[in-house]
Amino acid sequence: MGKGDGMEKVVHVDLADRGYDIRIGPDFGSTLEAAGEGRAALILADSHTGPLYRDAVCHMLENNGFICSYLEIPAGESSKCLSQLGAILEHAVEAGLDRKSLLVALGGGVIGDLGGFAASVYLRGISFLQIPTSLLAMVDSAVGGKTGINLPQGKNLVGAFHQPVSVAVNLATLETLPEREYRSGLAEVVKYGIIYDEDFFGYLEKEQDALLRRDAAVLAHVIGRSCEIKAAVVAQDEREGGLRAILNYGHTLAHAIEAVFGYGVYLHGEAVSLGIVYANCVSEARCGLSSDASRRVQDLLEGFGLPVHIPRDVEWNPLRAVMSTDKKAQRGVPKFVLAERIGAVQFGFEVSEEALEAAYRSLASPDRQ
Ligand code: NAD
Ligand code: GLY
Repeated sequence: MGKGDGMEKVVHVDLADRGYDIRIGPDFGSTLEAAGEGRAALILADSHTGPLYRDAVCHMLENNGFICSYLEIPAGESSKCLSQLGAILEHAVEAGLDRKSLLVALGGGVIGDLGGFAASVYLRGISFLQIPTSLLAMVDSAVGGKTGINLPQGKNLVGAFHQPVSVAVNLATLETLPEREYRSGLAEVVKYGIIYDEDFFGYLEKEQDALLRRDAAVLAHVIGRSCEIKAAVVAQDEREGGLRAILNYGHTLAHAIEAVFGYGVYLHGEAVSLGIVYANCVSEARCGLSSDASRRVQDLLEGFGLPVHIPRDVEWNPLRAVMSTDKKAQRGVPKFVLAERIGAVQFGFEVSEEALEAAYRSLASPDRQ
């Protein structure tokens, strides 16, 4: 993608004294304004993002008076685990990080979630800066303060709410993002259209080709609008007492797919794509979603090269068992976000076992193809 129009867009996450800006621009721009000056900083990256962007970020920090240390962990979902958390915390001690220090999460959602969680517990909490480099992290995981790690039993079962001091989206970093990872991020973008903004969904349909080409102007708009929607939801319900659950449209099945298949087999966005198609099926049965709307969503996901069918031989029971450990589940009964139409969802639905399984069969069924 090109450099766009060179303009920086700022989206504010309005959380009173924990509020912060998301800066979306063609470079690292004024990233560090909110991070203060003259402290120790630990840059956390993975084995892909570190070699690409570590030097630029380190120079920027040093130019602002920071003294940097650097830790690189293996790329991939399996690093979002207790042992890597331990490695980061031990590195932080050895590097002399104190309560005024800054952790810089330079990478995709794995680095952001893991680094943010490390920042939330180190010395009972230090500041952290999100520098998301995957599309998925730019539109979703870097915003809103959910941090955490996985356990073998399920996704994100350990974590904390810990807001970053700032989020710096450098659109140029998307130039190096592998195609499959890029498309994975588009699943979360489609989600925003379904849960909040029918016009935005229409824009995604219209600009499908431009998005697949990573057109800079279209991407800047799409990332900006996605961040605005997420910021609006988080500002109303930071700790997911209710409304914030809508950000998890499609995620109950998605998290189960990731856990049952093994982390990394389906990328997070790929699992979300399947989960969205599944949630649409349940929504048709329980919430009045029209089959036309369901079809439009499925077509858009397919247009982005995302999976919309699960292999027929995958059994339901193991997935259903993991769904009981979903954080929205109460006494093992998962609570669902369901769509009335594109742009309007409701949360807190309990769905009968028969309906849950029937939707799953439909997801696997060739007659939806
Ligand atoms: P990821 O962090 O594994 O990144 C995807 C891959 O792309 C990795 O191999 C990474 O090294 C590589 N990469 C990232 N940026 C790159 C770049 N610019 N150039 C080249 N390679 C690059 O995965 P992800 O899709 O970014 O994030 C998924 C994670 O985010 C999951 O763990 C998911 O649970 C979490 N998540 C969290 C939230 C939240 O609110 N905290 C929301 C959504 C997802
Ligand atoms: N990705 C879901 C949330 O941030 O609440």
